[in-house]
Amino acid sequence: MTNTFPKHFLWGASISAHQTEGAYQSDGKGLSVQDTRQRDNHDITDFTVAVDHYHHYKEDIRLLAEMGIKVFRFSIAWTRIFPNGRGEINQKGLQHYNDVIDELLKYGIQPYITLNHFDLPQALEDEGGWSARTTVEAFKHYAETVFEAYGDRAKHWLTINEPNIMLLVDKKILGKEIPLQEKYQQFHHLMIAEKYAFKRCHELIEGGKIGPVPNISLVYPATSKPLDNQAALYFNSVRNWAYLDFSCFGRYNTVFKDYLNRNNVTITIAPEDKELMENHFPDFVAMNFYTTVTVEKPTKKDGMANGISDQQSEDIMEWGFYKGFTNPYLKKNEFNWTIDPDGLKTTLQTLYDRYHLPIIITENGLGAKDELTADGKIHDTYRINYLKQHIDQCLQAIEAGVDLIGYSPWSAIDLVSVHEGISKRYGFIYVDRTEQDEKDLARYRKDSFYWYQELIKTNQLPS
Ligand code: BG6
Repeated sequence: MTNTFPKHFLWGASISAHQTEGAYQSDGKGLSVQDTRQRDNHDITDFTVAVDHYHHYKEDIRLLAEMGIKVFRFSIAWTRIFPNGRGEINQKGLQHYNDVIDELLKYGIQPYITLNHFDLPQALEDEGGWSARTTVEAFKHYAETVFEAYGDRAKHWLTINEPNIMLLVDKKILGKEIPLQEKYQQFHHLMIAEKYAFKRCHELIEGGKIGPVPNISLVYPATSKPLDNQAALYFNSVRNWAYLDFSCFGRYNTVFKDYLNRNNVTITIAPEDKELMENHFPDFVAMNFYTTVTVEKPTKKDGMANGISDQQSEDIMEWGFYKGFTNPYLKKNEFNWTIDPDGLKTTLQTLYDRYHLPIIITENGLGAKDELTADGKIHDTYRINYLKQHIDQCLQAIEAGVDLIGYSPWSAIDLVSVHEGISKRYGFIYVDRTEQDEKDLARYRKDSFYWYQELIKTNQLPS
């Protein structure tokens, strides 16, 4: 068993716009649903300043270049380009990402750009958001605009971040629950928007490559009972394969169709959709992975609300289909997320076997409460251990024949967690601020920064 990665393996690091940039109304930016969303807990920071990456991007990229990354995954804030989702281009917003891309290329870092990461323009939300077909049109125009503006230099694109988690965990990510019928009409619109992005990227960018970016985690049955296995089949389909089958095969899979039928959900499909679904496909799959999920067949409606409030097994319940089950074989992190590096290898193998497309991991990492010591250090050994275990499984997956081309963990720098604020940190680079106090936002290299730097330099996982 080797500990060396393939020669051109793409080591990277990832962020999203709203969780890092701040400057939420600067230079003509419009409001997104992340700027306006209802939050359960007001003791944690919102996204107005975040880690002020908008003003610190040069410093951040310099540090990332020092760490040695080859790929930087970031997202464009749609509301910087079109403050109201469509209409006049905001030139200052357009220029900002030109500058970011040029800065990355100066250091030989390839941009991997997510078109949209949970931050739909509020103006479009006011018109119905992803429930409205007009949002698909607006997205198409936005995607064409950024492909035309940046495609001469940015060749790798990701479509819409984790549409699966956005819809399943709607309350936490969007601040509101979406009724099932509407949720799956949104599914269709999100996936058609993605198809337009595949099509227009290939048409507008010479050598352009694009992929979907769902959160994929295998779903295990709680026991060997046949009905628990059936529960896992349904949740695997609803959580994982419905999305990738649409992206990569251009179809609704049969288990998912049955799930929709049994829930009396009817999706309106426009006449032009068939052509799009069947003719436009990704070049690779980008995959986010944190944890696996375990389910059983629910036997009684035991007081839990139907729905899913988190990515964790405990919160999953859809009567008639599946119910979360605590996997007794897995440890958890301090935020209650299970840790399953072996599950990463199995997930990669399953995904590759299903789609036969190159895979890049665009999120994986450990959210933890880091401590800045008086001498400016962050001893995040727990994060190094987490990364080491998962990277080891990447190596094993490659050995087992998976075409894994890169690993770009979450996150490059500390950022504001989707619903746990800045106290839950993921970065290789620490940003000095608390939930309530922005302090000086100074950047510090964590121990994991040096560890990852060494790994990239040697292209080997230290034993
Ligand atoms: C992914 C999202 O689902 O999970 C990220 O794409 C998010 O935006 C990450 O930050 C970790 O989740 P959380 O809730 O810890 O921020």
